[in-house]
Amino acid sequence: MPETRVGVIGAGYVGLTTAVCLASLGHPVHCTDIDTAKVAALNRGRTTLDEPDLSDLLVEGLAGGRLAFGTDPAALGDAEVVLLCLPTPMSADGGADLGAVHAALDRLGGLLAPDAVLVTKSTVPVGTTDRLAARLDRADVAVVSNPEFLREGHTVADFLHPSRILVGAHERRAGDRVAALYAQLAAPVVRTDPASAELAKYASNAFLAMKASYVNGLAELSERVGADIADVAATMGLDDRIGPAFLAPGPGWGGPCLPKDVSALVHAGRGVGLDLPLLRETLRANETQRRRVLDKIGAAVGGPLHGVRIGLLGLTFKAGTADVRDSPALAVAGELARRGAVLTGYDPAARAEDLPPRCPVQLVDDPYLVAKDAAAVVVLTEWPEFRALDWPRMAALAEQPAVVDTRDVLDRAALTGAGWSYRGIGRSAQPPAPGTGW
Ligand code: UGA
Repeated sequence: MPETRVGVIGAGYVGLTTAVCLASLGHPVHCTDIDTAKVAALNRGRTTLDEPDLSDLLVEGLAGGRLAFGTDPAALGDAEVVLLCLPTPMSADGGADLGAVHAALDRLGGLLAPDAVLVTKSTVPVGTTDRLAARLDRADVAVVSNPEFLREGHTVADFLHPSRILVGAHERRAGDRVAALYAQLAAPVVRTDPASAELAKYASNAFLAMKASYVNGLAELSERVGADIADVAATMGLDDRIGPAFLAPGPGWGGPCLPKDVSALVHAGRGVGLDLPLLRETLRANETQRRRVLDKIGAAVGGPLHGVRIGLLGLTFKAGTADVRDSPALAVAGELARRGAVLTGYDPAARAEDLPPRCPVQLVDDPYLVAKDAAAVVVLTEWPEFRALDWPRMAALAEQPAVVDTRDVLDRAALTGAGWSYRGIGRSAQPPAPGTGW
């Protein structure tokens, strides 16, 4: 297999996964990051990212001499392909902030080897790859778009078993060199121009958000007409044209990608005089969903929230990650705190140091402490272990046994049996009659 000398800029979820996985495929990889402490830890085989298999591949890559980390971009001077894996957060106007990408490009530009290929892997607005090529101003260096499709909590599996590999390049040969990085992976390779690749990434994330918002709306309708969203969604998901993914109702979708990407797409449309009402509504529906959750919590408490203790189970933006960025759970917590509630929270993975400054939730390391004297317990993230908690014990600790299950993960029959008043999303407090369901 032909090896490529690879440079990776940025050692976050995307960069680190890309670096260790490309090294595991046999490529020599040098990864840089501006965080000296992180780089030192990585060179010792240590990462704080709790991604399955990531640590093992990191240690293997370092031991095999195929992987190294540093802070100096000059070390990428002999790389044949350099991948930009930097954050592109949302700026105040809803667009993407390319500050980190521009800064890296300006540091790197003159250092790139003759005939190197520079790759945008981070999610960047349509046109960015071409604009970076103009900013770089090197006739010998092609800039190619190769967006990632990695889900947090599954980044290594998604990298090594991708649903598709997307390469957007103007020049065939530059695109071939990027596609060659993944030659061992069995996945369809879509070859296109940079703008189409950039848009396809945003379009995918925005579609997922739209699907989740649609289901959240159907969940509300299910409640009002006496249907069960689990059965409605399961039926929809069995249709190949719809598929079962992203049909779980919840407190609204969040995380570091979907919210910023939907906003960026709306912003991109506006920039060319195009309104994208479905996407605007997708964002609005997400706000509505959070308000619905707050109403449910209010109903569960049964009175004003001021001074009332509420216990929160789950703070991360989804299960399987420690990431609390743009977490729906924290958005709900923030609103509860504004209404005067006193919040205790437990999460199997979230770390106190990652919570935002002035986070109103007192983080505890025992899930039973969230029930103590609580007027309501609210499940905000779908960690499966919440279902296995000793709910009779939780009930004995609570001031009143009222639960709001915003992810429909709890066993409602067991809970109601244990004396809890149960409120889920899109389903009644009682399970369907025997013989129904599937
Ligand atoms: C998302 C995409 O799924 C990846 O393909 C993409 O590569 C990544 O963004 C990115 O752009 O880097 P991720 O942010 O890890 O991945 O999270 P998702 O698994 O997509 O979940 C996003 C949100 O949707 C979470 O808050 C989750 O709880 C919510 N969700 C998901 C639902 O509310 N319902 C569902 O059925 C599924």
